[in-house]
Amino acid sequence: MPILDRPENMERITTPDLANKYIEEQIADIKEQVGDKKVLLALSGGVDSSVVAALLIKAIGSQLVCVHVNHGLLRKGEPEQVIKVFKEELGANLIYVDAVDRFLDKLAGVTDPEQKRHIIGNEFIEVFAEEARKLEGIEFLAQGTIWPDILESEAGIKAHHNAGGLPEDLAFELVEPVRILFKDEVRVVGTQLGLPDSMVWRQPFPGPGLGVRCPGAITRDRLEAVRESDAILREEFAKNGLEGKVWQYFTVVPDFKSTGITDGKRTFDWPCIIRAINTTDVVEVTVEHLAPEFIDHLVKRITSEVPGINRVLFDYTPKPPATVEYE
Ligand code: XMP
Repeated sequence: MPILDRPENMERITTPDLANKYIEEQIADIKEQVGDKKVLLALSGGVDSSVVAALLIKAIGSQLVCVHVNHGLLRKGEPEQVIKVFKEELGANLIYVDAVDRFLDKLAGVTDPEQKRHIIGNEFIEVFAEEARKLEGIEFLAQGTIWPDILESEAGIKAHHNAGGLPEDLAFELVEPVRILFKDEVRVVGTQLGLPDSMVWRQPFPGPGLGVRCPGAITRDRLEAVRESDAILREEFAKNGLEGKVWQYFTVVPDFKSTGITDGKRTFDWPCIIRAINTTDVVEVTVEHLAPEFIDHLVKRITSEVPGINRVLFDYTPKPPATVEYE
């Protein structure tokens, strides 16, 4: 049976050899736990669920059914990357659910941040449960729980999102093959499983996605402005060797407009806020001071390439007093 608690004397997985050993042990454990039954996994494309998917594909192949829900709040290129890596390259049994309209229709006109998070979380469970009910013979649910999740839930810091809050008729047995690992170890294992660096070294991304970076009521045009400006920011950070060096960086497009001028004509458009931060524990966060020439370049690209943006602002606020995300 799988080990539920991290052994006190467990060596930190820092090398390919240690990762390979862990992978072999997990494959044996998964095979023993699951037998010839089917396993379901919500594959977001984040580090933890991606590593779990890659491990399970290696262990049980097509007995794993991955469900990727596109809630419309993902970053540019993310659903495509999940399909390319898992379906095309690893041959996963992957169900892609386009739930964009469903989520955005439910969120239309909702301004309260907590209500937005609530809708996104509930709708996600509903969509996933609907897919699960369509499938036959599923007995297990795989989850990307990692050791800090267990420690934090034991310490009462945050509720562990165990079993994703699925309804009772979907009470599957859990398969948690990275449960005893720290995040850095999950990354070493992911690399050893052949996942691309862009997946393994992804910066943290909140479950409600770009929804919390589109403050107030989400509209499709403003959401698109967040997505496009975020894509430019990520591209420029990668080009300038900042990927993996700055802990988290993203854009926010608030719900107000200001006057500007383009080609001699008045514009009345949104600003785009750039946030770039460093931290070790996200309890305290410092601001990354970007080079002025780099900021100038970002301003030029974002104002000229992203429809609806006529101004770029930089957020100089550490945490506390500000949180990392805006909602
Ligand atoms: P805050 O805004 O609380 O963010 O200072 C701290 C870190 O947590 C991420 N974050 C989330 N991650 N679900 C997540 O999985 C969420 O709802 C969520 N909200 C914030 C945030 O991106 C930052 O790295």
